[in-house]
Order: sequence, then C-alpha cells, then structure tokens
Amino acid sequence: MVSQIYDRVASRYDRDWSGIYAGARAHCVDQISAELTAAGPVDAIDLGIGTGNAFNDLRARIELGDCTGFDVSRGMLMQARQKLGADIRLVNSDAARAVDFVAPESVDLVLSHFLLSFVEADRLLSTAHRVLRPGGLMSLATSTQRSLIELHTGRFRRASKLFRVKRSLHKAHTPRDHTHCLEMLRQHGFEIVSERLHRQPVCFESFDDVRSWALDSGWVASRLDDKTGLRVVSSRVLFALAQLYYHPLYPVDAVNEISIVLARKPAHLDRYGDAEAHTRQATGQDLRPSG
Ligand SMILES: C[S@@+](CC[C@H](N)C(=O)[O-])C[C@H]1O[C@@H](n2cnc3c(N)ncnc32)[C@H](O)[C@@H]1O
Repeated sequence: MVSQIYDRVASRYDRDWSGIYAGARAHCVDQISAELTAAGPVDAIDLGIGTGNAFNDLRARIELGDCTGFDVSRGMLMQARQKLGADIRLVNSDAARAVDFVAPESVDLVLSHFLLSFVEADRLLSTAHRVLRPGGLMSLATSTQRSLIELHTGRFRRASKLFRVKRSLHKAHTPRDHTHCLEMLRQHGFEIVSERLHRQPVCFESFDDVRSWALDSGWVASRLDDKTGLRVVSSRVLFALAQLYYHPLYPVDAVNEISIVLARKPAHLDRYGDAEAHTRQATGQDLRPSG
C-alpha cells in the first residue's frame, strides 16, 4: 500500500506544499555539515531516500563517499536516479533490511527523514546502530504524534472523527513529542549531538492545500494500511468525500512540528565491547556485575 501510494505521487512529491520538507531538511543539512565539513569522504545511507533531496543538498556541502539510498517505492527511486545520477547506489528495499545490503559498522552517516511514520522505531534505530561505524552519525527528522493530533483538532475535528484519524495516529510509530524522540535515540545507545524542534506555521487556504499536503507528500500513505481495514478504492474518492466535509472551514491555520536530531553512535563501546550494552544501560536493564 505505502509503496503504491508513493509510486503514484512520485512525480509530484517535490512540489512540497509550503516547503515543509525543504524547511526541515535545511536544518538537518546544517546539523550534519557542522559536524562533517572537514571529514573527508563520508560514506552514507539514506533509509527512505524518496526523491533523493537529502543527498542532493548534502553533496553541495560535504564530500560524499560511498552512498546508498533505500526505498520501497520504485517510482520514488526513479525520481532519485534522475536527480542524483549514477554515483549513488539505489536499492528497492524495506529500510529494516538495509543490513542485508550494507556491512555492519561500515557507514559514517545514516539519514532517516520522515520515515518513522512507516517503519517501527526499534527496527529503524537498531538497523542504523548496526551499520554505523563507532562515532558515526544518525540524522533523524520526524513529525510527532502531538503535532499531528493538534492538526486534527479545532476546525478539522469533524472530518478527523469521520476518518478515525486520532486512533490511527496513536498507533503510528512516530514519537509522542520531541522529548520522546530524544529518549528513543538515547535508549538505542545514541548520544545527542544537536537537536531542535522545528515549528512551521502553515495555512490551509483551500481544500487544494489539504490535498497537496496530504496526497502529494504521500502523508496519506502513513495513515492507511491493510490492518486498519480502511481500504481506499481510490485516494481521489476519499478526498472528494473529505472535500465536502472541509469545504466551509477555510482558511485553517496550523503549526507543523518536526523533531530534528543529529545523534552519534558512541566512538568507544563499553568495556564488554558490545554496542547493545548501551541500550541496556540506558533502559536500566544492564544487570551484569560491575566487578
Ligand atoms: C515522506 S517520504 C520522505 C522521503 C525523504 N526522506 C524526504 O525527506 O523527502 C517517505 C519515503 O519513505 C519511503 N518508505 C516508506 N516505507 C518505507 C520502508 N519500510 N522502507 C524504506 N522506505 C520506505 C516512501 O516510499 C517514501 O519515499
């Protein structure tokens, strides 16, 4: 379902309504460049590369080495190929299977931007931890449940009830809020290098804005899966219905809130030589004797 929706929106994805993705990406690229500008060739992977914007922006700021982008959508990968040329390896695979394609502890930088809506956090973060070299960096950008729930209150409440949005948001893998996002990273053995909560005011002037935000960005894909039982015959039909509901409500002001974090896998593993021990320590589960 997710890959099919992204296949369909791939050619429109870069319209990026209100510059939501571009605004967040600029902060991610700043955070990464501040750490890696003088680092020499940086071997990197993007776990959900989409149309390739992060690598494209990064290569203007730092020297990239061996790079691989993963994505479940072939349509998005085709857009990425056009943008990035042949230098970057593209793999049509689930992010959680990146370990099948990338050697353990072989990369300097892992990107995960707007992927936590689709991949379970534990799987994503442990994958990143496994492929990163000690001292390697993880760049994470994600919406939070709090901001998405806020977005569905007020004037959008009625339509949200109709589409049971709140229920599906609570089931999403995205962190509850920015603090929870930082906690999740620490629990997986990462140290926080820099972090910010990016809050971008947006205004839905008309239903076309809702359509652009939800459909062209592929956002709707993260709300629909086979288990919800909410099968969409066609997303256009769904949105035609929503349009009737939303019609009298505009303009609608909202704030889009995105957690942006650069985190490091510690350079020195603990005395057991075991990266996972960081997770146990962080969660208070490390019961081995200290003597
Ligand atoms: C919101 S887009 C983000 C794309 C890009 N990272 C960006 O910031 O513009 C989400 C992307 O994740 C991809 N995706 C969804 N589930 C995935 C999974 N399990 N593994 C890899 N990619 C996935 C989608 O196909 C889509 O290209």
